[in-house]
Amino acid sequence: TSVETFYDQVGGEETFRRIVARFYAEVAEDELLRPLYPEEDLGPAEERLRLFLMQYWGGPHTYSDSRGHPRLRMRHAPFKIGPAERDAWLRCMRIAVDEAGLEPRHREQLWEYLEMAAQSMVNSWF
Ligand code: HEM
Repeated sequence: TSVETFYDQVGGEETFRRIVARFYAEVAEDELLRPLYPEEDLGPAEERLRLFLMQYWGGPHTYSDSRGHPRLRMRHAPFKIGPAERDAWLRCMRIAVDEAGLEPRHREQLWEYLEMAAQSMVNSWF
């Protein structure tokens, strides 16, 4: 008997695509966050975050197949992420998650994880 993952319960790839696209639309307009992204085109970064989140929540392992072990804290080390950057990231993500139309229990579970994950990426005191 197979157990439906969180990924399946929230609607699979389509749902993650919607959330991450909305998130990056917000990042593109954010004065603090936009300059952190090294590439002109945010498309590739959008794809990496989408594939990572899909994998994390029980979807296909495409992220690790192409990027290897996530080691997210290490991959964020080149960027200054202080409390202000964390809060800006969460502000963008909040909009994306709120607009995704998830059931409250799914929204809360996802949000709890994202807050924890964003905090764990902080690598600067200012
Ligand atoms: C990559 C910023 C939090 C997941 C990046 C990049 C930047 C960035 C500038 C490089 C863009 C790229 O080329 O992919 C930030 C900031 C955060 C934050 C300012 C604020 C706390 C998070 C969190 C997660 C996450 C909480 C996961 C839940 C990722 C992933 C990548 C990435 C998967 C691509 C890694 C790779 O495969 O190279 N982030 N990030 N980030 N971020 Fe974040």
